Amino acid sequence: MTEITQLAIESWAGPCSALAQTTAIDALEKGDVLLLPKLDFALHDDERALYFQNTGVEVKGKNISLNLADNSVRGSHANAAELGVLRDMMVRFATDSRALVHALLPGYVSTIEQGRTSFRPVEVAGRASSWRKDDTRLHVDSFPSSPTRGKRILRLFTNVNPHGQGRNWRLGERFEDVARRYLGSLPEPLWGSSQVLAMLGITKGRRSNYDHFMLQLHDRMKADSAYQASGGQREFAFAPGCTWLVYTDQVPHAAMSGRFLFEQTFYLPVAGMHDPATSPLRVLERLMGRELA
Ligand SMILES: [Fe+2]
Repeated sequence: MTEITQLAIESWAGPCSALAQTTAIDALEKGDVLLLPKLDFALHDDERALYFQNTGVEVKGKNISLNLADNSVRGSHANAAELGVLRDMMVRFATDSRALVHALLPGYVSTIEQGRTSFRPVEVAGRASSWRKDDTRLHVDSFPSSPTRGKRILRLFTNVNPHGQGRNWRLGERFEDVARRYLGSLPEPLWGSSQVLAMLGITKGRRSNYDHFMLQLHDRMKADSAYQASGGQREFAFAPGCTWLVYTDQVPHAAMSGRFLFEQTFYLPVAGMHDPATSPLRVLERLMGRELA
């Protein structure tokens, strides 16, 4: 079962003790959620006004996202002035998130890549979607258009809900237990399909066998009602004002309710890990007896 490891860190920029650094990396790579209950993200007055006093700009989908490559913000109907406030707020969160990784996970700094930043002001509960996109079902992260070829997906979240509402998750079993549950029944990829998907621009780069099996696993977990209802799991409410990190490609998770959340994605090559044997890539390769990426 997924465990929660807590650290009493109060500053994004550290410093963090050697013990905290070791605890953090061991917990994350083992597949725990790393909870920092005292690490909040402080909002400026104009940001509060924009989002929390019912003057919030409308959101197009479920997230507003920031691309750090060009500081572009997507997913809102904000006007130019509001967009400036949004951008500054999200850039600051991205900067703080990177500072925390430097302070708490220094072993990752030379190989980690910072991905997109998102702000999620929309309520998760009751949102209509297809079963495949329904994140209230337990799943591990794997995205059809973005193959990672084994790279880890590390995500950092901060709940900034101003009404005292927690971000309520379900957390599942350890990755190897879930993999063993489904592995024998996952179909092989169609010959040549990865090249065709990349050529047509459906995937960003070639989908490896690892990506194929991770997508299958994601889908099988979400489609399996019996597993969703009675597979090993626990509930956890992430209180407002707390931050947590988790390898979402490894830890089965489901977001049941909550709104007003920041999220920052990082990618890490398996070779950049302290213990690569714990990665989903190496676990699947060991269980299947062959290379997958
Ligand atoms: Fe997810």
